[in-house]
Amino acid sequence: MSRAKITRRRLRANRRDGRHGCWDHLVIAPLWVAYDANLGTLLRTCDAVGACLAVPRSPHYRNALAVGDTLRRRRPCIHWVTTGKTRWIDTQRDAGKRIVAVELAEGATPLPRLTPASGPSVLLLGHEHNGIPDDVLAGVDECIEIPMVGYGASLNVAVAGSLVAYRLAGLS
Ligand SMILES: C[S@@+](CC[C@H](N)C(=O)[O-])C[C@H]1O[C@@H](n2cnc3c(N)ncnc32)[C@H](O)[C@@H]1O
Repeated sequence: MSRAKITRRRLRANRRDGRHGCWDHLVIAPLWVAYDANLGTLLRTCDAVGACLAVPRSPHYRNALAVGDTLRRRRPCIHWVTTGKTRWIDTQRDAGKRIVAVELAEGATPLPRLTPASGPSVLLLGHEHNGIPDDVLAGVDECIEIPMVGYGASLNVAVAGSLVAYRLAGLS
């Protein structure tokens, strides 16, 4: 069997055409993620799985995404959070979305047991050093933990978020 790499032209032919709309079905929300490279990576994951990205509207996030945006004019829809993080999460919950945290926490669902989202969902990701704040974690509908067997305490946040996003989107 041939294992020739698929050309860029053929890949593009099988993908969506034109700009992203706001799908709002899955929103990846790295509200506490600080490092530019992680934000750029998560933006590309949003594109790949058909999700929107939600981040605070601050110069830091705007600059990080401007630099990390390798998709240029075809980037995913970005929801700018202007109301404060906790208030924004409450608004999403009131709008009927399921709030899912990606975190190493007591009682979390192991990733292999996670089923694809059956309704609109928001995926919260934590800060590279401090994780998701405890008071936020206490109020989420579900927390997902990615099992690890290695020495490291945790995964890179963009890797963790991408693994869970693929599963929630029904693509893995
Ligand atoms: C590097 S970790 C932060 C760890 C931090 N030292 C703590 O104790 O909370 C950054 C973020 O990546 C995600 N993460 C990393 N590894 C994970 C795992 N194995 N399962 C679930 N989430 C993970 C979580 O969203 C976490 O908040």
